[in-house]
Amino acid sequence: MKNIILQFKKKYEARSPISVITCYDYSFARLFADTNVDCILVGDSLGNVIQGQSSTIPVTLDEMIYHTKAVNRGAPGKTVIADMPFMSYQISVEEGMRSAGRIMKETTADCVKLEGDSDLVLELTRRLTEAGVPVFAHLGLTPQSVHTLGGHRVQGKTEESQKRMLEKAKQLQDAGAFALVLEMIPESLGKEITESLQIPTIGIGAGRFTSGQVLVMQDLLGMNETFRPKFLKTFANLSEQIKTSVNLYHSEVEGRSFPSQEHTF
Ligand code: KIV
Repeated sequence: MKNIILQFKKKYEARSPISVITCYDYSFARLFADTNVDCILVGDSLGNVIQGQSSTIPVTLDEMIYHTKAVNRGAPGKTVIADMPFMSYQISVEEGMRSAGRIMKETTADCVKLEGDSDLVLELTRRLTEAGVPVFAHLGLTPQSVHTLGGHRVQGKTEESQKRMLEKAKQLQDAGAFALVLEMIPESLGKEITESLQIPTIGIGAGRFTSGQVLVMQDLLGMNETFRPKFLKTFANLSEQIKTSVNLYHSEVEGRSFPSQEHTF
């Protein structure tokens, strides 16, 4: 049986970098199931890349459950992280427990991911871990707080904020988090936090020294020509390939070369 805590621990102890990719549906999950990628994150980034929203804030718990179930069906052998969406855990620890309970009971996600470092998140991390729910923490740019952070910008640039993030990372670890996403922070801070913890850090725009990396699938596959932040490397150019293929289909339909005899009954 797959176990995300043991899987991450094994790679972390072997100092072998952990690869995580986001995914939101069955078809892509089936493809990723046939790859060597270590783990799938059903991120609330689905608000941006699936729903076309300008932030992750509108994403609901029901939507997270719907997408996580679809991914689980496509990649039953992969470990899956499910994001807890905005306001499914910020109101109270009890509500957070209930929301995480729904994700764990209604999907076959292996853990939940929570953003931030508030006292409530620390307490919820403790309570969920005690209840048997593995918690993935998330610091740095936490998109659910985009309004209070003043936009999508690099975090931890001042000495004071770096000290605070390091302290909060340790507190999350002590509360029971088994891994930590670090998003858009200076490389030196990513390195310092990684070296100070005994749990893996998974970076996105956090430099070369974290224990692993995560990227949004549409970004790494080159499906979004207008989103090219500095941290992103595109490993394919699917937007070009998709548009060329669809145009080819269109012109063959128009020119009556598709369907040909081989495609008819
Ligand atoms: O929602 C998401 O995809 C994420 C990653 C960017 C880490 O939280």
